[in-house]
Amino acid sequence: MKNDSEFRLQLLGIAQQNKELLESKKLVPGTDYLPPSGKVVGSMEFEMLMQASVDMWLTAGRFADQFEAEFPKVWGMKESLLVNSGSSANLVAFSALTSPKLRERALKPGDEFITTACGFPTTVAPAVQFGMKPVFIDVDLETQNASVESIERAITPKTKLIMIAHSLGNPFRSDLIAKICKEKNIWFIEDCCDALGAKVGDQHVGTYGDFATCSFYPAHHITMGEGGAVLTNNHQLYKIAMSFRDWGRDCYCPPGVSDSCGARFDWKLGSLPKGYDHKYIYSHLGYNLKTTDFQAAIGLAQLQRLPTFIKKRQENHEYLDQCLKNLGLEEKIILTKATPGTSPSWFGFYLTLREEDKRRSVVQFLEANKVGTRLLFAGNLIRQPAFRDVPHEVSGTLINTDKIMSDGFWVGIWPGLDKPHMEYIAEMIKKSLV
Ligand SMILES: Cc1ncc(COP(=O)(O)O)c(C=O)c1O
Repeated sequence: MKNDSEFRLQLLGIAQQNKELLESKKLVPGTDYLPPSGKVVGSMEFEMLMQASVDMWLTAGRFADQFEAEFPKVWGMKESLLVNSGSSANLVAFSALTSPKLRERALKPGDEFITTACGFPTTVAPAVQFGMKPVFIDVDLETQNASVESIERAITPKTKLIMIAHSLGNPFRSDLIAKICKEKNIWFIEDCCDALGAKVGDQHVGTYGDFATCSFYPAHHITMGEGGAVLTNNHQLYKIAMSFRDWGRDCYCPPGVSDSCGARFDWKLGSLPKGYDHKYIYSHLGYNLKTTDFQAAIGLAQLQRLPTFIKKRQENHEYLDQCLKNLGLEEKIILTKATPGTSPSWFGFYLTLREEDKRRSVVQFLEANKVGTRLLFAGNLIRQPAFRDVPHEVSGTLINTDKIMSDGFWVGIWPGLDKPHMEYIAEMIKKSLV
């Protein structure tokens, strides 16, 4: 009869013997479709998944604990919470700021928040669902990010939150925004779902705000299939966020643990009977947005690859940029620039066509020639059916956002692609423009 460690060793052997079979397939430019985003996984992920399977823990357990301990170190932050998606990360981070535990600083329905109209819907939806009013601002065409000045101009005495994503891995100046937020008592959430590894100055994006949020969907820098994380340096916010993630309960015991506070039957909260089991005391109207250990185990394997992933994304972006310039395409395309003072960790290669009404034919040509394309998410959120009836304000104009919505798109630079893929993509973009 085999024991547990022999069984685990056998699985390790299977992973190693089938290494090639488990590695992501290399794509041939011109023959294979080049998706705009994708995952790079292999025997390491398979092995970790098998280890989690042998545990049969099923919910969040030792792998989730390990991920939550290791992930903040990558950012230089204190604490992280795993959740089941980037959208859930945004929901948890936002909800935490509505907690009555924050007293007069808790967000209230009717308060205003500033965000970009050129964004992802679930960066904005939680605050709208809560009853806050979005104030939409424009972005710069060359960075697809809001400028510090445009954010500052949109601030009014009613502004209580700034919640903006670092666009496609290109950061906005969250260091400067954080300073303004501190001075004016405004909460600040950095949606870093597309920007894992990007820096502002010498610090990671996400380290300046009250919360950073992250996605591990396969398109993102690392993946767990579905997954996300909330990070913060503020222990009170961390505990409140955990409560919203875990059904709204007051207790902060992880699954399978019963008396973390050492006073499980000694609490007296509200009008509950004295000694009511702390595991069943609820201080927030929460959710259950936890991950499983299978997801966390895959995430731990991916974390080891993160530095090479970031480097590859940067190299591919730089090379494709150079190829397009060498082909003389700057006359026809507005190329993206890194926001000054930042180092991007690119999510995709975004470009805007100078000519109007051309994108449809360009994108159709590229897709027909096996180059995958994507739009910059929702384009102008206000024009989306879901947002049409949402009471909102616009600060300034949304001219650039509309240009991006009409004439912009992006192609892949993810780590499954290499120089020959970039050369092929550049060549096809040139052909699409004649
Ligand atoms: C900026 C941004 N925020 C949030 C999300 C949501 O992440 P998820 O798909 O994991 O819910 C995405 C998804 O791509 C995103 O790009």
